[in-house]
Amino acid sequence: MAKIAIVYFSGYGHTAKLAEAVEKGAASAAGASVEIFRIDGEGNLPDGWMEKLAAADAIVYGSPTYMGGPAWQFKKFADATSKAWFTQAWKDKIGAAFTNSASVNGDKAMTMSYFVTLAMQHGQIWVGTGLMPSNTKAHGPDDVNWTAGQTGLLAVSPSDASAEEAPRKGDLETARLFGKRVAEVAVKLRG
Ligand SMILES: Cc1cc2nc3c(=O)[nH]c(=O)nc-3n(C[C@H](O)[C@H](O)[C@H](O)COP(=O)(O)O)c2cc1C
Repeated sequence: MAKIAIVYFSGYGHTAKLAEAVEKGAASAAGASVEIFRIDGEGNLPDGWMEKLAAADAIVYGSPTYMGGPAWQFKKFADATSKAWFTQAWKDKIGAAFTNSASVNGDKAMTMSYFVTLAMQHGQIWVGTGLMPSNTKAHGPDDVNWTAGQTGLLAVSPSDASAEEAPRKGDLETARLFGKRVAEVAVKLRG
């Protein structure tokens, strides 16, 4: 089985919904198993996370975009991964990522750029969404990849929407397809 790890932070539950949809998609891929790790409000993960991530074939990163970057809790986790960096323990694992924020743009690309950099520092192999954008006049939040995230998944939760209301249908379906793709690539790479 190819092991997929999803490591994410969510302050108010919106990014958590996205993470669950990524998990669902990854779990639907034949030959893949998934474990989800939620970083807590103090930026910590349960004991044993480093060993578990060392055993993963793919590590998918997720955070809301806060002030044009990942939340500090995610950055605390990222800094703690420097222990794995010293030995390049995550080299050739798949890397992929998702972010969510209130604005359609909202500088989400900065967060994605950080995730790519983190993965490249670890020598990971990047997997994007592989999804064409839904970008005609007829398209909107109910459509797959309506935000045109190709490096990674970019979701929108309007600032007055609860986590029950957003991310919306198109983003959740994009997350499912993205999770499935990451898992399928991980299965292929494992051979
Ligand atoms: C401290 C803070 C900073 C934020 N900065 C941004 C931002 O730079 N761009 C944006 O579009 N939304 C921004 N937002 C909105 C959040 O990204 C949005 O509410 C998101 O859905 C929160 O996800 P969560 O429920 O998983 O924490 C910010 C929210 C907070 C609390």
